[in-house]
Amino acid sequence: MMVLNSVVSTLLLSVSGAFAALGTLQQFTGDFGPNPTGVGFFYYTPAQLASPPPLIVAMHYCTGDAQDYFEGTQYANLADTHGFIVIYPSAPAVGTCFDVASNATLTHNAGGDSLGIASWRVTPLPTGVVLMGAYPDIFAAGSLFSGVPYGCFAGPNAWNTQCALGELILTPQQWGDLVRSGYPGFTGTRPKVQFWHGTADTTLYPQNFWEEIKQWTNVFGVSQTPSSNLTNDPLPGYSRASFGPDVQGILAQGVGHTVPVREGDVLDWFSLSNLTATPSPITSTLPPTSTTVAGHWDQCGGIGFTGPTGTFPIALEHGGPLTLLLL
Ligand SMILES: *[C@@H]1O[C@H](CO)[C@@H](O)[C@H](O)[C@H]1NC(C)=O
Ligand SMILES: *[C@@H]1O[C@H](CO)[C@@H](O)[C@H](O)[C@H]1NC(C)=O
Ligand SMILES: *[C@@H]1O[C@H](CO)[C@@H](O)[C@H](O)[C@H]1NC(C)=O
Repeated sequence: MMVLNSVVSTLLLSVSGAFAALGTLQQFTGDFGPNPTGVGFFYYTPAQLASPPPLIVAMHYCTGDAQDYFEGTQYANLADTHGFIVIYPSAPAVGTCFDVASNATLTHNAGGDSLGIASWRVTPLPTGVVLMGAYPDIFAAGSLFSGVPYGCFAGPNAWNTQCALGELILTPQQWGDLVRSGYPGFTGTRPKVQFWHGTADTTLYPQNFWEEIKQWTNVFGVSQTPSSNLTNDPLPGYSRASFGPDVQGILAQGVGHTVPVREGDVLDWFSLSNLTATPSPITSTLPPTSTTVAGHWDQCGGIGFTGPTGTFPIALEHGGPLTLLLL
């Protein structure tokens, strides 16, 4: 796994010649709510923003970090064009995989890497942009490369061989129940899910693709038979299977664990392809200074907001790089 991930890292860095963001990666070190594991908070804000600017969370692969993912993908360049903000979390653990195994990270408001990242939902970035929105519907959409179903890695160890080999076979109901157990009682709209997998993946075997289909079709209550399946889309040998509007599985024939990230495709899935940055800087929408923390967060989270208590229904299923669109 280490070797393969080194290869991943090299491949991603080798495309950095095409990297042409106008600005640089910034680190935010201020206080932004619970972050029990100390996830590093880096972000890229383009000079011109869309109004309002969407926020994308771009999570790196194992052994990588925020800087690697910033340089190795086109999200920052695309942010210059489209005016969204990109957050690049940096995993705190040795080996720099995000925690997708502990009960804390898998459970709503119980801690782990997921809570630290979810807390950023309500962070006033130093640019003066305040990230507002209804809570707990944190994410609008996610796109996952070479991952596994939510809960597949659950357990005491960071690595789960049975899952990696694609030998953890559950029923759609069982997989769906795992997702629902991440935040019992959640009744809001769930983020739509897109996942990519190579048929020659020997790190996280391709059976995980089929298990993901079972899981997310169950969660969204749709048929496991694709409503459409476009061949040679987006590349020769790939197929794009849709299961209604909220679930999409892209299978890449003959491709290994490093399914190349297709940022433009991800933006299409997020419906951001036609977004444009506005020419003038947006005015600051920082909330009025408040003497109490609660009052301050009320401004950010809306009426009745009681602080960041995030759920992370998609991120926790990942095993590979993952990109999320915040609502
Ligand atoms: C997981 O954490 C939740 C919240 O802290 C707790 O209620 C639950 O019992 C834990 N489950 C296991 C299997 O430890
Ligand atoms: C979509 O079609 C391709 C090509 O026939 C096939 O390999 C793939 O398994 C199909 N995907 C799904 C999810 O059925
Ligand atoms: C975005 O623009 C393309 C043409 O550049 C068009 O085909 C597509 O329908 C547009 N999408 C939306 C959501 O407007």
